[in-house]
Amino acid sequence: MAILVTGGLGYIGSHTVVELIENGYKVIIVDNYINSNSNILDQLFKITGVNPLFYKIDVTQKDKLEKVFVEQKIDEVIHFAGLKSIGESVEDPLRYYYNNVVSTMVISSLCIKYKVKKVVFSSSATVYGNQESPLKEETSLKKTTNPYGETKVMSERILTDVSYAHPEFSITLLRYFNPIGAHKSGLIGEKIKSSTNNLVPYISKVAKKEKSKVEIFGKDYNTIDGTGVRDYIHVVDLAKGHVKAVQSFKLGITTYNLGTGKGTSVLELIGAFEKVNNVSIPYEFVQRRLGDIEVSYADSSKAERELGWKTELSIKDMVKDAWNFEKKRRTY
Ligand SMILES: NC(=O)c1ccc[n+]([C@@H]2O[C@H](COP(=O)([O-])OP(=O)(O)OC[C@H]3O[C@@H](n4cnc5c(N)ncnc54)[C@H](O)[C@@H]3O)[C@@H](O)[C@H]2O)c1
Repeated sequence: MAILVTGGLGYIGSHTVVELIENGYKVIIVDNYINSNSNILDQLFKITGVNPLFYKIDVTQKDKLEKVFVEQKIDEVIHFAGLKSIGESVEDPLRYYYNNVVSTMVISSLCIKYKVKKVVFSSSATVYGNQESPLKEETSLKKTTNPYGETKVMSERILTDVSYAHPEFSITLLRYFNPIGAHKSGLIGEKIKSSTNNLVPYISKVAKKEKSKVEIFGKDYNTIDGTGVRDYIHVVDLAKGHVKAVQSFKLGITTYNLGTGKGTSVLELIGAFEKVNNVSIPYEFVQRRLGDIEVSYADSSKAERELGWKTELSIKDMVKDAWNFEKKRRTY
């Protein structure tokens, strides 16, 4: 089976490529390096011993991407390529709508033209907006709290309509909760641009003394300790969820939450990072961020039931592997 992986050099994509190769799939990666670089290909080779086929292409450029469909025999597509910073999407919504929505349209149209009838799409828990947890797949989607979330809702809708118009297609929407951690080798992990505030890379920077303290946005939420609660999932568990998804395609459109089903507060996560890695993480409380949600965690029982997938790794594994990656990181 040959799988085209868009955004395959990114955080979740690269971990999924490892799992796909280890499960015997042929992988063709397309990425434009907007949030990655060629070193990740070397890291993938070090981990798997395989050099996946690679095209440096922007997936919004249909004529360029079409070349891949002409040159390669593609059986399935996993579409990760996208921009993912909520803050950036608020500042520059058009860039986000263009990149994330047009890419989904381009991929859909090429899949229709070249009869690649199996597609997995990287969606997000942000599509649920501000609703009560545990979040289930059938929960109706309300307005999300930011343009990034809207790009995911729109992409889901486009793919749903494609599945109605082409009943021979199998399209799986995977709604990820909060992936953290890294491959145990420490060779791939989450790259953080200075402008993004993802919690765990930020904590790692504080542990490395590249930043003085973690800013915690809000201390008066109605949670165990007043800080926001999220469903953190080890990126390797998430990557394995993709392998299960490509092994279990069903005709039509199918949606799965991929999360642990457990919520962890920001303070609990910082405490776990300190304890497991024996480091000190100073923090300070600042204002809540506009649009932040109090509590978000998944009901992932559908994925367990239908895909035979559930998470295996704990918060301890997540913070240990995240720190291992950060310590080894040189060229990211
Ligand atoms: N990381 C998260 O917390 C999270 C949560 C839910 C959903 N997602 C979604 O999962 C997907 C992967 O996320 P990630 O964390 O690995 O992000 P990432 O930024 O690490 O990876 C995305 C990859 O796609 C590439 N890319 C972006 N736009 C492209 C384009 N137009 N053409 C070609 N390549 C392009 C980037 O260079 C990068 O390598 C994204 O669609 C994201 O929205 C991520």
